[in-house]
Amino acid sequence: MEINPVKGTHDIIADEANLYTMIEQTAMGIAQLYGYKEIRTPVIEHTPLFLRSVGESSDIVNKEMYTFDDKGGRSITLRPELTAGVMRSIVSNKLYANADLPIKYCYVGPCFRYERPQAGRYRQFNQFGVEAVGAPSCYQDAEVISIGHHLLSSIGLRNIKVLINSLGDEESRANYKVALKEYFSKHIDKMCPDCKRRLETNPLRILDCKVPEDIEIVKGAPKMTDYLSDASKAYLNKVIAILKDIGIETEIDTNLVRGLDYYTGVVFEYHFAKTDGIDNIGALGGGGHYANLLAEVGGPSYEGIGLAMGVERLAYIVKSVVNPKLPIGIDFYILGMTEQIIDQNFALADYLRGAGFIIETNYATKSMSSLLKTALRKNAKFAIIIGEDEIAKKEVAVKNLKTQDQTYVKLDDLENVLHSLINAYYADEMKLEGKEE
Ligand code: HAM
Repeated sequence: MEINPVKGTHDIIADEANLYTMIEQTAMGIAQLYGYKEIRTPVIEHTPLFLRSVGESSDIVNKEMYTFDDKGGRSITLRPELTAGVMRSIVSNKLYANADLPIKYCYVGPCFRYERPQAGRYRQFNQFGVEAVGAPSCYQDAEVISIGHHLLSSIGLRNIKVLINSLGDEESRANYKVALKEYFSKHIDKMCPDCKRRLETNPLRILDCKVPEDIEIVKGAPKMTDYLSDASKAYLNKVIAILKDIGIETEIDTNLVRGLDYYTGVVFEYHFAKTDGIDNIGALGGGGHYANLLAEVGGPSYEGIGLAMGVERLAYIVKSVVNPKLPIGIDFYILGMTEQIIDQNFALADYLRGAGFIIETNYATKSMSSLLKTALRKNAKFAIIIGEDEIAKKEVAVKNLKTQDQTYVKLDDLENVLHSLINAYYADEMKLEGKEE
């Protein structure tokens, strides 16, 4: 019987896996430019960690966690996000002690949410993120938002909308929740069962509802901006101004409340603005300021700010819009038509890989035309052809598979010439790209 992948999970194979690695390495490299150090926390945590942080009024805790009792009877949850685990780790390892604040960590890894699978929404997916804890400042908030933006432009994405809002200080939030409760109480009979629950647990959550009829009701709800204290308004405006100064435009979205309970103050999301022919996959990333999270999980009351980006969603947009030259292919496919030459080619391939080339070669005797077809299918840039004549002359034929130009190269000089051929190949590609623009 065939065993299928678990619903909502996906295999990431070959060229696609290369794309994920490229995105993740770019992301971690960028975070390190801003002084963030890598942190790796466990995929499993004690369930109360998420109840206290992500929060009992969030959809994640209510409906989406993979929670089970382990053989020792402890309630364990597969992490639905990494922020809570990073905070737990900061406390468990006392990373704040004797540290120059803020402490700054970056991470990448799998998360698990029992969501309805659809475009860009998986039950196992990967997040890249950063957290900066211990020195609250509007510059720190702006730095985190700019890291996400830097990543998006580094992987070739333009047309990015950065939505921003403030959930204000405690008093503003409390007043706003009262106003929302009053407004939604008048409409709640017509709203979905989740919203009925949200009205009691946290009316802010209703602003996030995706049910079309409820969205219409949400449109008439009071706006957070009308309830922000002067200090919260000034803070939000300062973050917006700092970002504008470095060329990052933001758009205030008064309904942006984010789906996790730990946020206070500035919250933000990145959306891909151009939607023609592209599935609506939701936010590419998001995050915000959290004043009480570290204290909630047993640490000192240091404020923090962080962001997380969905690697699956970034990969989808890169594939659909930027269309990098996938598959990456190999540099040289070495052809051998006889057993004796195949035997020699094994060592030649080994030597050339040592010189940094991506090499494949054939192990079964086949005709030249069939091997050339294989080289093309594998996206090889060049074929190296070695026959009896070439062996006698101590040379190989190198054929450019795009232009079909063929040159003969002495074995003594092989490594140098192959390097210049590859360099010339890439220079040509870049010229072509320039013309296309
Ligand atoms: P989040 O908005 O829940 O925030 O997730 C961040 C990103 O993860 C989303 O914008 C999306 O790109 C991706 N994502 C979420 N769920 C899925 C899914 N089911 N399938 C594919 N991708 C998904 C957080 O997780 C917060 N921890 C962000 C943060 C860090 N806030 C402060 N620090």
